[in-house]
This record gives sequence, structure tokens and C-alpha cells, in this order.
Amino acid sequence: MRRLSLALMGLALACALPAMAQTATAAKAPAAPPAAPVRTLLSVSEVMRHIVNPAAETYWAHTGVIDDEKGSNDRTPTTQAGWDLTINAAAQVAEAGNLLMMDGRARDPGGPWMKYARALNAAGISGMAAASAKDHDKTFEVGGDIYDACFNCHAKYIQRPKNSLYKQGVEGAVPPK
Ligand code: HEC
Repeated sequence: MRRLSLALMGLALACALPAMAQTATAAKAPAAPPAAPVRTLLSVSEVMRHIVNPAAETYWAHTGVIDDEKGSNDRTPTTQAGWDLTINAAAQVAEAGNLLMMDGRARDPGGPWMKYARALNAAGISGMAAASAKDHDKTFEVGGDIYDACFNCHAKYIQRPKNSLYKQGVEGAVPPK
């Protein structure tokens, strides 16, 4: 019992000490907010493979007109369920932009990485708005913005040989899969 109460006292003291230290500095500067309990689990590559890429593919697959041997195939949703799928995909793209900006993923927080991640974020938000408004043309146009965000970041941050067609933006160059 005595041992327990000693242990409890020790615990109380240990808790009080940081609090006292904080009060001492609090006079000078406001206490910093507690660190957010956030832990990045997936690598950038895994975020791409499991979140960004499937979401973007779903979005793209439900926009635009594809001409094939069977004729003209307009893939724009015609049902609420179809539009909902597009909205969901755009929402995932938007929030994925934030995932890429988190500590542990952002490659160079002072450089253009954040700009490209924000571009992905903005394109996703526009996609949600366009699909919510069931705007055929705008939904397709935003698909291009999403693609540009991928392309620009990859061009800068994925190592490629100097003579890579992809790097030069030459027609026929394809993004990595
Ligand atoms: C802010 C930067 C950034 C944006 C935006 C971005 N990517 Fe990436 N992506 C990367 C980097 C960096 C890699 C290479 C992984 C690494 O270096 O760890 C990568 C790799 C990939 C890969 C390969 C993943 C694997 O299996 O290793 C795919 C697929 C991919 N991206 C798809 C996309 C698509 C689709 C988009 C747009 C909808 C996109 N990315 C937007 C930075 C970005």
C-alpha cells in the first residue's frame, strides 16, 4: 500500500513537473498547441498506388467521350449513382493532396512540392463541384486539371534520364504506371 502511494506520488510529481515548466515559460510566449496525434502510415508511393491512382482512374473513367469501333461512347454519368461515384473519386483526389503535404511525405516543403499537392487538392475540389452540378463539360475539363497536377509533380520529382520523352513533355510520352 505504502509502495503504491509512493508510486502515485511519484506519478503526480512527474505530471506536475512539465506543467510547472510550462507555467514558467507561459509568461513569455503562449504555450504551443499540443502536437496533433497524426502518424503517416503509407509512403508516397503507397498513397499513389492505393489512393491517388485508383481515385483518379475512377474519375477519368466517368468523363469524356471515347470513340471506338462501336462508335461514340460518352462515359459521363447519366444516373445519380454514377455522379456520386464521380463526386467520391474527386473527394478522394482532393483529400489526397493534403496527404501529400503531411510531414513525412512532403518531399521539399520549401519547393514546388506543396504547389503541386495543392493543385491536386484544388482540382479535386473543382471536380466535386462540377460533378455535384452534373456539369458534363466542366467534369471533363477538371479531369485535365487533375492530370496536369500528376504530370507536373512527376516531371519534377520522379528521377528520369535526361533524354526522357516524358521529361520533355513530348507528345506520346506517358506518365509512369
Ligand atoms: C505532389 C506530387 C505528386 C502528385 C501531385 C502526384 N504524384 Fe504520383 N508520384 C509522386 C512521386 C514522388 C512518386 C514516386 C514515388 C516515390 O518517389 O516514392 C509518384 C508515383 C506515382 C505512381 C507509381 C506508384 C508506385 O507503384 O510506386 C503512380 C501510379 C502515380 N504516382 C500516380 C499519380 C496520379 C494518377 C496522380 C494524379 C491524380 C499523381 N500521381 C499525382 C508524386 C506525385
